[in-house]
Amino acid sequence: MVLCVKAAMKDAQRVKQHLYGHGLFDRGYRHGKEGGFVLFPVTGRFRSSLPVTFVERELEEAPAKGGLKERLADALTEEERDSLTSSFDIVGSIAILEIDEALLPKERLIAAAILADNRNVTTVLKKAGGHAGELRVQKMAFLAGIDTRETVVVENGVRLRIDVEGVYYSVRSATERKRIASLVRPGERVLVMFSGAAPYCCVIAKRTEAAEIVGIELNEKGHELGLVNVKLNKLKNVVLINDDVRDAVPMLAEKGIAFDRIVMPLPHTGHDFLDEAFSVAHRGTVIHLYDFEREGEFEKAAEKAEAAAKRNNRTIRVLGIVPSGQHSPRVFRVCVDFEMLA
Ligand SMILES: C[S@@+](CC[C@H](N)C(=O)[O-])C[C@H]1O[C@@H](n2cnc3c(N)ncnc32)[C@H](O)[C@@H]1O
Repeated sequence: MVLCVKAAMKDAQRVKQHLYGHGLFDRGYRHGKEGGFVLFPVTGRFRSSLPVTFVERELEEAPAKGGLKERLADALTEEERDSLTSSFDIVGSIAILEIDEALLPKERLIAAAILADNRNVTTVLKKAGGHAGELRVQKMAFLAGIDTRETVVVENGVRLRIDVEGVYYSVRSATERKRIASLVRPGERVLVMFSGAAPYCCVIAKRTEAAEIVGIELNEKGHELGLVNVKLNKLKNVVLINDDVRDAVPMLAEKGIAFDRIVMPLPHTGHDFLDEAFSVAHRGTVIHLYDFEREGEFEKAAEKAEAAAKRNNRTIRVLGIVPSGQHSPRVFRVCVDFEMLA
């Protein structure tokens, strides 16, 4: 028996779109019909205002599909197929392709194959530029499936609504967020600068007994999604501020507010905000500063923290430098963990 939702024929299109859009459609089975109703196989029970009821029925299995490479065997050379394997990310129901110049004429074909090959992917986009400007957002172009930029991602036990074009979010940082959460002790007050759609805030709130988590994000769209995500995960101890860290943190400092842990996920320029971080750090505060550094030069990230401490007449102790993903050939995203000694 297969778990299904039963929808009246007149609502079928809307229900199908919702199921695809939220990764709820179980693509292992074909949909069925029963009187004036359509039966859609689903991956689990969920709450929604859709006009459907849950039922269990026998449904025909969907035909087995070959892998992406097999699907493209006739269309691409072996070399082209090899260059494909690591060139797309899946963010919820959206696949994001990074297409080599040479493969551009075949991008629609590749997108259709990705759609057919990945049960939960309903949209295929391609990167149309790098992360740009202060907000680190990235332009996307539509290739196949449902034309949307919004999706829901499940990460570290939280559900996150993400707009892949409107706010920075990387699935590749999920393990790093879990690492940070694993360090948080009960009762801590945590500041997440540059909080985006609040993935760090939500993961920390969900996985720890932190007293309070404050996120600060400049991008209005990111902040709004952060508020949605806090609600989606029923989190009570997250406060999100839509402002520039340069303006918001001095206001917190003025009120005498300090934090036990400060997360600074803005590689490249995060170290420019260390003066602000120090202004709300007390003896014992642990700071996580992200940076991009070349292979063999990770120490440079710690040197930036040391220089800022000196400038602010503070003393720090570096606890570790942790690589957390590759940015470009030979350049890595690293996190300097350090403690305020004075
Ligand atoms: C690399 S993203 C990280 C987002 C999120 N923390 C995550 O891990 O997905 C950096 C974020 O910092 C925000 N940002 C950049 N400068 C800022 C500033 N001065 N004040 C507040 N937020 C800022 C950008 O809008 C962007 O969302």
